Amino acid sequence: MNRAMHDTVGATGKVKQAIMVWDMPVRVFHWLLVICFIGAWLSSESERWAMIHYAFGYTACLLTLIRLVWGVIGTRYARFSQFLKSPKAVIRHFMAMLRGHPHHDVGHNPAGGLVMFALMLLILLIGLTGYLSVKEFLGNFVSEAHEAVASLVLGLVIIHIIAAIGMSVIERQNLVRSMVNGKKQGMPEQGIRYPQYLIGSFIFLGALYFFYLIMSGSLPSLTQ
Ligand code: HEM
Ligand code: HEM
Repeated sequence: MNRAMHDTVGATGKVKQAIMVWDMPVRVFHWLLVICFIGAWLSSESERWAMIHYAFGYTACLLTLIRLVWGVIGTRYARFSQFLKSPKAVIRHFMAMLRGHPHHDVGHNPAGGLVMFALMLLILLIGLTGYLSVKEFLGNFVSEAHEAVASLVLGLVIIHIIAAIGMSVIERQNLVRSMVNGKKQGMPEQGIRYPQYLIGSFIFLGALYFFYLIMSGSLPSLTQ
C-alpha cells in the first residue's frame, strides 16, 4: 500500500475520520497553562504586579499537578503510559522521522511526549524556586535559579510551538486546532468515548477560583 493510501485507509480498510483524542481536562490544562505562562512572564518585571505574578505562577503549578494525576487516571491519550516510552523507542522514532516516516498513531509521539513531561516538571520547578524566592531562602541564588528555569522553559516552549506547526505540515493536519476541539484524523475505534466535559469544567472553575484566592492574598503562606 502506498503512503497516500495509508493516510486515508487504515489496516482494517476503514477510512480515517475525525475522532476525539484529547479529552476536556487535557485541553483546559493546555490553554489555561498557556495563559498562565504568558501572564507570569508579562507580570514578572514589576513589583507592582507581584500578586498577579504569583497568581499566574501558582495556577500554572496547580494545573500541572492536576495534569500529573490525570496522566494516571485520565482517558487513553492523556495517560503517561500511552506516551512516555523507553529511550530506545524515542531514538527509533527519531530515526523513522529522519527517513521520512511520520508518526501515524494518534496521541503524542514518543519524542514529543518526553518533552511534554519534562515541560510539566520544569513548570513545577519554576513554582518551587518562586516560592523559595518569596521566602527569601538562600537569597539571590534561588531568585537567579527561578529566572534561569523560567528562561529555559521559554526556550522549550518556542521550540514546542515551532514543532507543533512543523508536525502539522508533515502530518497534513492542524494539530493546534486538535488541541482546541480535541479531534484528530484516525480510525473510529481509536477515539476516546467520553471527553469528560464535567471534569474539564471543574478544573476550569477550580483554576479560576485558585487564581482569585492567590491574587486577593487569601493564601498568605504562599505569597508572604
Ligand atoms: C500558542 C502557543 C502554543 C501552541 C500553538 C501549542 C500547541 C500544542 C499542541 C498542538 C500540542 C499537542 C501536541 C501533540 O499533538 O502531540 C501541545 C501540547 C502541550 N503543550 Fe503546547 N502549545 C502552545 C503553548 C504552550 C505553552 C506556553 C506551554 C507550557 C508552558 C505548553 C505546554 C504543552 C504541554 C505540557 C503539552 C502536553 C499536553 C498534555 O499532554 O496534557 N504549550 N501544545
Ligand atoms: C510559570 C510560572 C512563572 C514564570 C514563567 C515566572 C517567571 C519569572 C521571571 C522571568 C522573573 C524575573 C523577573 C525579573 O527580575 O526580570 C520572576 C521573578 C520572580 N518570581 Fe516568578 N515566575 C513564575 C512563577 C512564580 C511563582 C509561582 C512564584 C511564587 C511566589 C514566583 C515568584 C517570583 C518572585 C518572588 C520573583 C522576584 C525574584 C527576585 O528578583 O527576587 N514566580 N519570575
